[in-house]
Amino acid sequence: MAESTLDLRGIPLAEAYPELSNQAAYILEAIDDPVAGMSTIVALIHHAFAHLWTGFYRVAEPQKMLRIGPYQGTVGCLEIPFGKGVCGIAAAEGRTVIVDDVSLFPGHITCDARSRSEIVVPVFDRSGHLTAVLDIDSDQIGAFGDEDRAGLENMMKWFGGIS
Ligand code: SME
Repeated sequence: MAESTLDLRGIPLAEAYPELSNQAAYILEAIDDPVAGMSTIVALIHHAFAHLWTGFYRVAEPQKMLRIGPYQGTVGCLEIPFGKGVCGIAAAEGRTVIVDDVSLFPGHITCDARSRSEIVVPVFDRSGHLTAVLDIDSDQIGAFGDEDRAGLENMMKWFGGIS
């Protein structure tokens, strides 16, 4: 069933991300609400890979503040200033940031002490404005690589296709 939540652990990432992306597009076909999109995409990614924490931080004040959005996992930090932590740097620079070992990242913001590595991917609207970042945390060192970057950046294109 296309609406069910897939478990894609053990499947090559080059196959897993396109499958997830197709499923998101199918479920969200008639939707142009970014929060509905964030909630659905977070649930799909989180359960497909059994991550520690998966969620969006939304741009509350451009170039100033990110605020928590839809997420799955333990309670997340509510606000992160641009330029602070991994999320804040990804937002300030508008680029994906991968951290293999968060204990070695100066200024890392710890919301869940079990977090060991993370990836943060920017989200842009159809005008190219930064509207959010997707933050995924793992309890494993070095959990994310270039295939995750490519797969997740591709999934975030959904937000550029809605009005
Ligand atoms: N680790 C993030 C903070 C958000 S939480 O992990 C949910 C960071 O340093 O940006």
